[in-house]
Amino acid sequence: MRAKIIGTGSCLPTKVATNDDLSALMDTSDEWIQSRTGIRERRLVSSESETTLSMAAQAGKAALTDSGLQPEEIDLIIVATVSSDFVTPSTACMVQKELGAVCAAAFDINAACSGFLFALNTADAYFQSGIYQTALIIGVETLSKIIDWTDRSTCVLFGDGAGAAVLRASEQGIIASLQGSNGAGGHVLMCKNRGNNNPYISTDACLDYLYMDGQEVFKFAVKKETECIHALLAQAGLMPEDIDWYLLHQANQRIIASIARKLKLSLAKFPSNVDHCGNTSAASIPILLDEVHKAGKLKDGDLLLLSGFGAGLTWGAALLLW
Ligand code: ACO
Repeated sequence: MRAKIIGTGSCLPTKVATNDDLSALMDTSDEWIQSRTGIRERRLVSSESETTLSMAAQAGKAALTDSGLQPEEIDLIIVATVSSDFVTPSTACMVQKELGAVCAAAFDINAACSGFLFALNTADAYFQSGIYQTALIIGVETLSKIIDWTDRSTCVLFGDGAGAAVLRASEQGIIASLQGSNGAGGHVLMCKNRGNNNPYISTDACLDYLYMDGQEVFKFAVKKETECIHALLAQAGLMPEDIDWYLLHQANQRIIASIARKLKLSLAKFPSNVDHCGNTSAASIPILLDEVHKAGKLKDGDLLLLSGFGAGLTWGAALLLW
Protein backbone atom coordinates (compact mmCIF):
# COMPACT_ATOMS: atom_id res chain seq x y z
CA MET A 1 0.00 0.00 0.00
CA ARG A 2 1.16 3.53 -0.77
CA ALA A 3 0.28 6.99 0.58
CA LYS A 4 -2.63 8.73 -1.14
CA ILE A 5 -3.50 12.33 -0.32
CA ILE A 6 -7.20 12.49 0.61
CA GLY A 7 -7.42 15.98 2.12
CA THR A 8 -5.50 19.25 2.31
CA GLY A 9 -5.58 22.38 4.43
CA SER A 10 -3.55 25.51 5.07
CA CYS A 11 -3.34 28.52 7.33
CA LEU A 12 -1.69 31.89 6.73
CA PRO A 13 -1.24 34.65 9.31
CA THR A 14 -3.56 37.63 8.87
CA LYS A 15 -0.87 40.32 8.46
CA VAL A 16 0.18 41.02 4.89
CA ALA A 17 3.63 42.61 4.62
CA THR A 18 4.17 44.03 1.14
CA ASN A 19 7.55 44.84 -0.33
CA ASP A 20 6.74 48.52 0.21
CA ASP A 21 6.04 47.77 3.90
CA LEU A 22 9.53 46.24 4.18
CA SER A 23 11.03 49.21 2.34
CA ALA A 24 9.83 51.34 5.25
CA LEU A 25 11.85 49.13 7.64
CA MET A 26 15.09 48.73 5.65
CA ASP A 27 16.98 49.83 2.57
CA THR A 28 15.21 47.75 -0.09
CA SER A 29 12.60 48.23 -2.80
CA ASP A 30 9.67 46.49 -4.44
CA GLU A 31 11.60 46.57 -7.72
CA TRP A 32 14.68 44.80 -6.24
CA ILE A 33 12.66 42.10 -4.49
CA GLN A 34 10.23 41.39 -7.35
CA SER A 35 12.87 41.33 -10.08
CA ARG A 36 15.11 38.87 -8.18
CA THR A 37 12.50 36.66 -6.52
CA GLY A 38 8.97 37.25 -7.86
CA ILE A 39 7.81 38.01 -4.30
CA ARG A 40 5.25 40.87 -3.93
CA GLU A 41 4.16 40.26 -0.37
CA ARG A 42 4.28 37.66 2.41
CA ARG A 43 2.25 36.88 5.53
CA LEU A 44 3.92 37.36 8.91
CA VAL A 45 2.62 36.51 12.37
CA SER A 46 1.78 39.72 14.20
CA SER A 47 0.21 38.68 17.51
CA GLU A 48 1.06 36.28 20.32
CA SER A 49 -1.95 34.14 19.45
CA GLU A 50 -0.49 33.32 16.01
CA THR A 51 2.13 30.67 16.63
CA THR A 52 3.68 27.66 14.95
CA LEU A 53 1.21 25.50 16.89
CA SER A 54 -1.88 27.59 16.11
CA MET A 55 -1.16 27.61 12.38
CA ALA A 56 -0.27 23.90 12.33
CA ALA A 57 -3.47 22.98 14.20
CA GLN A 58 -5.65 25.13 11.95
CA ALA A 59 -4.12 23.69 8.76
CA GLY A 60 -4.42 20.17 10.20
CA LYS A 61 -8.07 20.70 11.13
CA ALA A 62 -8.87 21.97 7.62
CA ALA A 63 -7.13 18.96 6.05
CA LEU A 64 -9.08 16.58 8.30
CA THR A 65 -12.38 18.22 7.36
CA ASP A 66 -11.44 17.99 3.67
CA SER A 67 -10.58 14.29 4.06
CA GLY A 68 -13.79 13.33 5.85
CA LEU A 69 -11.81 11.42 8.52
CA GLN A 70 -12.39 11.94 12.23
CA PRO A 71 -9.40 12.95 14.42
CA GLU A 72 -9.42 9.62 16.25
CA GLU A 73 -9.02 7.76 12.94
CA ILE A 74 -5.51 9.23 12.46
CA ASP A 75 -2.68 6.77 13.23
CA LEU A 76 0.29 9.10 12.77
CA ILE A 77 1.03 12.83 12.92
CA ILE A 78 4.29 14.17 11.53
CA VAL A 79 5.07 17.88 11.69
CA ALA A 80 7.93 19.24 9.59
CA THR A 81 9.33 22.46 11.03
CA VAL A 82 12.52 24.25 12.04
CA SER A 83 10.64 26.90 14.01
CA SER A 84 8.62 25.08 16.67
CA ASP A 85 7.40 27.05 19.68
CA PHE A 86 8.96 24.62 22.16
CA VAL A 87 12.08 22.46 22.20
CA THR A 88 9.81 19.88 23.78
CA PRO A 89 7.04 18.74 23.59
CA SER A 90 7.08 18.44 19.83
CA THR A 91 4.68 20.49 17.74
CA ALA A 92 3.19 17.21 16.51
CA CYS A 93 2.27 16.15 20.07
CA MET A 94 0.69 19.55 20.70
CA VAL A 95 -1.28 19.30 17.44
CA GLN A 96 -2.43 15.83 18.50
CA LYS A 97 -3.86 17.34 21.69
CA GLU A 98 -5.47 20.30 19.87
CA LEU A 99 -7.20 18.05 17.35
CA GLY A 100 -8.11 15.21 19.73
CA ALA A 101 -6.28 12.71 17.54
CA VAL A 102 -5.90 10.47 20.56
CA CYS A 103 -4.81 7.32 18.69
CA ALA A 104 -1.96 8.95 16.75
CA ALA A 105 1.76 8.57 17.35
CA ALA A 106 3.24 12.03 16.87
CA PHE A 107 6.70 13.45 16.21
CA ASP A 108 8.47 16.31 14.44
CA ILE A 109 11.11 16.16 11.76
CA ASN A 110 13.68 18.80 10.85
CA ALA A 111 14.60 18.81 7.18
CA ALA A 112 14.04 22.55 6.61
CA CYS A 113 12.34 23.37 3.31
CA SER A 114 12.38 19.68 2.26
CA GLY A 115 10.54 18.78 5.48
CA PHE A 116 7.09 18.21 4.00
CA LEU A 117 8.54 15.76 1.46
CA PHE A 118 10.49 13.95 4.18
CA ALA A 119 7.22 13.69 6.16
CA LEU A 120 5.36 12.39 3.11
CA ASN A 121 8.06 9.82 2.36
CA THR A 122 8.20 8.74 6.02
CA ALA A 123 4.44 8.22 6.21
CA ASP A 124 4.57 6.34 2.89
CA ALA A 125 7.26 4.02 4.30
CA TYR A 126 5.05 3.28 7.33
CA PHE A 127 2.17 2.50 4.97
CA GLN A 128 4.35 0.24 2.80
CA SER A 129 5.42 -1.67 5.90
CA GLY A 130 1.78 -2.03 7.01
CA ILE A 131 2.36 -0.34 10.38
CA TYR A 132 -0.09 2.54 9.85
CA GLN A 133 -3.04 3.20 7.55
CA THR A 134 -3.68 6.93 8.01
CA ALA A 135 -1.54 9.99 8.68
CA LEU A 136 -1.73 13.75 9.05
CA ILE A 137 1.40 15.50 7.83
CA ILE A 138 1.98 19.21 8.33
CA GLY A 139 4.64 21.65 7.16
CA VAL A 140 4.69 24.78 9.30
CA GLU A 141 7.10 27.66 9.86
CA THR A 142 7.27 30.90 11.79
CA LEU A 143 10.59 31.85 10.24
CA SER A 144 9.98 35.53 11.03
CA LYS A 145 11.23 34.83 14.58
CA ILE A 146 14.58 33.37 13.48
CA ILE A 147 15.32 35.63 10.52
CA ASP A 148 18.06 38.25 10.80
CA TRP A 149 15.98 41.38 10.13
CA THR A 150 19.20 43.38 9.66
CA ASP A 151 20.20 41.19 6.68
CA ARG A 152 18.15 42.55 3.79
CA SER A 153 19.39 39.88 1.39
CA THR A 154 17.60 37.11 3.34
CA CYS A 155 14.81 38.66 5.44
CA VAL A 156 12.79 39.84 2.44
CA LEU A 157 12.52 36.27 1.11
CA PHE A 158 10.54 34.53 3.84
CA GLY A 159 6.96 34.31 5.08
CA ASP A 160 5.10 32.41 7.81
CA GLY A 161 2.36 29.78 7.36
CA ALA A 162 1.27 26.16 7.52
CA GLY A 163 0.03 23.52 5.08
CA ALA A 164 -1.26 20.03 5.79
CA ALA A 165 -2.33 16.81 4.08
CA VAL A 166 -4.23 13.76 5.28
CA LEU A 167 -2.92 10.50 3.83
CA ARG A 168 -4.49 7.07 3.60
CA ALA A 169 -2.84 3.78 2.66
CA SER A 170 -4.23 2.93 -0.81
CA GLU A 171 -3.57 0.73 -3.81
CA GLN A 172 -2.72 3.89 -5.77
CA GLY A 173 -1.01 7.03 -4.55
CA ILE A 174 2.72 7.62 -4.47
CA ILE A 175 4.34 6.07 -7.54
CA ALA A 176 7.98 6.96 -6.87
CA SER A 177 9.88 9.01 -4.32
CA LEU A 178 13.37 9.96 -3.23
CA GLN A 179 15.16 12.00 -0.62
CA GLY A 180 18.75 12.82 0.21
CA SER A 181 21.12 14.96 2.21
CA ASN A 182 24.57 16.49 2.01
CA GLY A 183 25.69 17.62 5.45
CA ALA A 184 28.99 18.83 3.99
CA GLY A 185 27.11 21.66 2.28
CA GLY A 186 25.17 22.68 5.38
CA HIS A 187 27.15 25.87 6.02
CA VAL A 188 25.48 27.77 3.15
CA LEU A 189 22.16 27.94 5.00
CA MET A 190 22.13 27.69 8.76
CA CYS A 191 20.71 28.95 12.04
CA LYS A 192 22.51 28.15 15.30
CA ASN A 193 20.56 27.05 18.34
CA ARG A 194 20.55 28.53 21.85
CA GLY A 195 23.81 29.00 23.71
CA ASN A 196 24.94 26.09 25.85
CA ASN A 197 23.52 26.10 29.40
CA ASN A 198 25.83 23.31 30.63
CA PRO A 199 27.64 24.67 33.76
CA TYR A 200 30.98 23.13 32.60
CA ILE A 201 30.90 24.83 29.18
CA SER A 202 31.06 28.59 29.12
CA THR A 203 29.22 30.17 26.17
CA ASP A 204 27.10 33.25 25.65
CA ALA A 205 23.47 32.19 25.96
CA CYS A 206 22.44 34.30 22.99
CA LEU A 207 20.24 33.27 20.11
CA ASP A 208 21.54 33.26 16.59
CA TYR A 209 19.59 34.01 13.42
CA LEU A 210 19.33 32.59 9.94
CA TYR A 211 22.37 32.92 7.67
CA MET A 212 22.24 32.16 3.95
CA ASP A 213 24.67 32.32 1.04
CA GLY A 214 21.95 33.13 -1.50
CA GLN A 215 23.92 32.51 -4.68
CA GLU A 216 25.21 29.11 -3.52
CA VAL A 217 21.68 28.08 -2.50
CA PHE A 218 20.36 29.24 -5.88
CA LYS A 219 22.86 27.08 -7.80
CA PHE A 220 22.25 24.07 -5.54
CA ALA A 221 18.47 24.43 -5.89
CA VAL A 222 18.35 24.53 -9.68
CA LYS A 223 20.85 21.66 -10.10
CA LYS A 224 19.47 19.34 -7.41
CA GLU A 225 15.76 19.84 -8.10
CA THR A 226 16.27 19.22 -11.82
CA GLU A 227 18.27 16.05 -11.01
CA CYS A 228 15.53 14.85 -8.62
CA ILE A 229 12.82 15.38 -11.22
CA HIS A 230 14.77 13.49 -13.91
CA ALA A 231 15.48 10.66 -11.44
CA LEU A 232 11.81 10.27 -10.51
CA LEU A 233 10.68 10.40 -14.13
CA ALA A 234 13.25 7.71 -14.99
CA GLN A 235 12.04 5.51 -12.08
CA ALA A 236 8.48 5.78 -13.37
CA GLY A 237 9.36 5.53 -17.08
CA LEU A 238 7.74 8.92 -17.81
CA MET A 239 8.69 12.01 -19.81
CA PRO A 240 8.58 15.56 -18.35
CA GLU A 241 5.46 16.41 -20.40
CA ASP A 242 3.56 13.41 -18.93
CA ILE A 243 3.27 15.20 -15.57
CA ASP A 244 0.15 17.32 -15.11
CA TRP A 245 1.43 19.50 -12.26
CA TYR A 246 4.87 20.26 -10.86
CA LEU A 247 4.52 21.54 -7.30
CA LEU A 248 7.99 22.81 -6.41
CA HIS A 249 9.31 24.40 -3.24
CA GLN A 250 8.36 28.06 -3.44
CA ALA A 251 11.69 29.76 -2.72
CA ASN A 252 12.09 32.00 -5.72
CA GLN A 253 10.20 32.34 -9.02
CA ARG A 254 13.52 32.49 -10.91
CA ILE A 255 14.46 29.04 -9.57
CA ILE A 256 11.08 27.63 -10.67
CA ALA A 257 11.39 29.26 -14.11
CA SER A 258 14.96 27.91 -14.55
CA ILE A 259 13.78 24.38 -13.80
CA ALA A 260 10.83 24.69 -16.22
CA ARG A 261 13.26 25.89 -18.91
CA LYS A 262 15.65 22.98 -18.27
CA LEU A 263 12.73 20.53 -18.62
CA LYS A 264 11.57 22.40 -21.78
CA LEU A 265 8.10 22.82 -20.29
CA SER A 266 5.63 25.70 -20.12
CA LEU A 267 5.42 27.50 -16.77
CA ALA A 268 1.66 26.72 -16.88
CA LYS A 269 2.49 23.30 -15.38
CA PHE A 270 4.24 25.00 -12.41
CA PRO A 271 1.67 26.68 -10.18
CA SER A 272 3.23 29.20 -7.85
CA ASN A 273 2.31 31.22 -4.79
CA VAL A 274 5.69 32.75 -4.00
CA ASP A 275 4.33 36.14 -5.13
CA HIS A 276 1.92 36.35 -2.18
CA CYS A 277 3.44 33.92 0.38
CA GLY A 278 7.18 34.35 -0.03
CA ASN A 279 9.27 31.34 0.97
CA THR A 280 7.45 29.54 3.80
CA SER A 281 10.06 26.75 4.00
CA ALA A 282 8.48 23.40 5.04
CA ALA A 283 5.01 24.90 4.56
CA SER A 284 5.45 26.04 0.97
CA ILE A 285 4.56 22.85 -0.93
CA PRO A 286 1.49 21.93 1.18
CA ILE A 287 0.16 25.51 1.10
CA LEU A 288 0.51 25.46 -2.69
CA LEU A 289 -1.09 22.01 -2.89
CA ASP A 290 -4.05 23.25 -0.84
CA GLU A 291 -4.40 26.33 -3.06
CA VAL A 292 -4.49 24.37 -6.33
CA HIS A 293 -6.75 21.68 -4.84
CA LYS A 294 -9.24 24.21 -3.42
CA ALA A 295 -9.19 26.11 -6.73
CA GLY A 296 -10.48 22.91 -8.36
CA LYS A 297 -7.48 22.51 -10.64
CA LEU A 298 -6.62 18.90 -9.74
CA LYS A 299 -8.57 16.10 -11.43
CA ASP A 300 -8.74 12.46 -10.35
CA GLY A 301 -5.91 10.62 -12.04
CA ASP A 302 -3.67 13.71 -12.49
CA LEU A 303 0.04 13.06 -12.08
CA LEU A 304 1.69 15.40 -9.57
CA LEU A 305 5.41 15.80 -9.05
CA LEU A 306 6.38 17.44 -5.75
CA SER A 307 9.99 18.49 -5.27
CA GLY A 308 11.87 20.56 -2.75
CA PHE A 309 15.30 21.45 -1.37
CA GLY A 310 16.48 23.04 1.82
CA ALA A 311 18.94 23.56 4.59
CA GLY A 312 20.96 20.56 5.70
CA LEU A 313 21.45 20.41 2.80
CA THR A 314 18.42 18.26 2.03
CA TRP A 315 16.24 17.42 -0.96
CA GLY A 316 13.19 15.30 -1.58
CA ALA A 317 10.66 14.54 -4.28
CA ALA A 318 7.56 12.44 -4.83
CA LEU A 319 5.57 11.47 -7.90
CA LEU A 320 1.96 10.66 -7.12
CA LEU A 321 -1.43 10.01 -8.58
CA TRP A 322 -4.12 12.44 -7.40
N1 ACO B 1 17.21 45.15 -1.40
C1 ACO B 1 18.07 45.88 -2.14
N2 ACO B 1 19.33 45.48 -2.41
C2 ACO B 1 19.72 44.32 -1.90
C3 ACO B 1 18.88 43.51 -1.11
C4 ACO B 1 17.58 43.97 -0.87
N3 ACO B 1 16.69 43.26 -0.15
N4 ACO B 1 19.56 42.41 -0.75
C5 ACO B 1 20.78 42.49 -1.30
N5 ACO B 1 20.88 43.64 -1.99
C6 ACO B 1 22.02 44.14 -2.75
C7 ACO B 1 23.32 43.53 -2.32
O1 ACO B 1 23.84 44.26 -1.23
C8 ACO B 1 24.15 43.66 -3.58
O2 ACO B 1 24.61 44.98 -3.64
P1 ACO B 1 26.11 45.32 -4.18
O3 ACO B 1 26.12 44.80 -5.59
O4 ACO B 1 26.19 46.79 -4.08
O5 ACO B 1 27.02 44.56 -3.27
C9 ACO B 1 23.15 43.51 -4.70
O6 ACO B 1 21.84 43.72 -4.12
C10 ACO B 1 23.15 42.16 -5.38
O7 ACO B 1 23.13 41.15 -4.42
P2 ACO B 1 23.24 39.66 -4.86
O8 ACO B 1 23.38 38.80 -3.64
O9 ACO B 1 24.22 39.53 -5.95
O10 ACO B 1 21.81 39.42 -5.54
P3 ACO B 1 21.30 38.17 -6.30
O11 ACO B 1 20.95 38.57 -7.67
O12 ACO B 1 22.16 36.96 -6.11
O13 ACO B 1 19.94 37.85 -5.52
C11 ACO B 1 18.98 36.44 -3.88
C12 ACO B 1 19.96 37.54 -4.14
C13 ACO B 1 17.58 36.92 -4.23
C14 ACO B 1 19.03 36.09 -2.40
C15 ACO B 1 19.37 35.23 -4.74
O14 ACO B 1 20.71 34.90 -4.55
C16 ACO B 1 18.52 34.04 -4.45
O15 ACO B 1 17.34 34.05 -4.75
N6 ACO B 1 19.13 32.98 -3.93
C17 ACO B 1 18.39 31.80 -3.57
C18 ACO B 1 17.83 32.03 -2.25
C19 ACO B 1 16.83 31.02 -1.94
O16 ACO B 1 15.95 30.74 -2.71
N7 ACO B 1 16.99 30.47 -0.79
C20 ACO B 1 16.15 29.47 -0.39
C21 ACO B 1 15.90 29.79 0.99
S1 ACO B 1 16.07 28.55 2.02
C22 ACO B 1 15.25 27.34 1.42
O17 ACO B 1 14.19 27.53 0.87
C23 ACO B 1 15.83 26.10 1.52
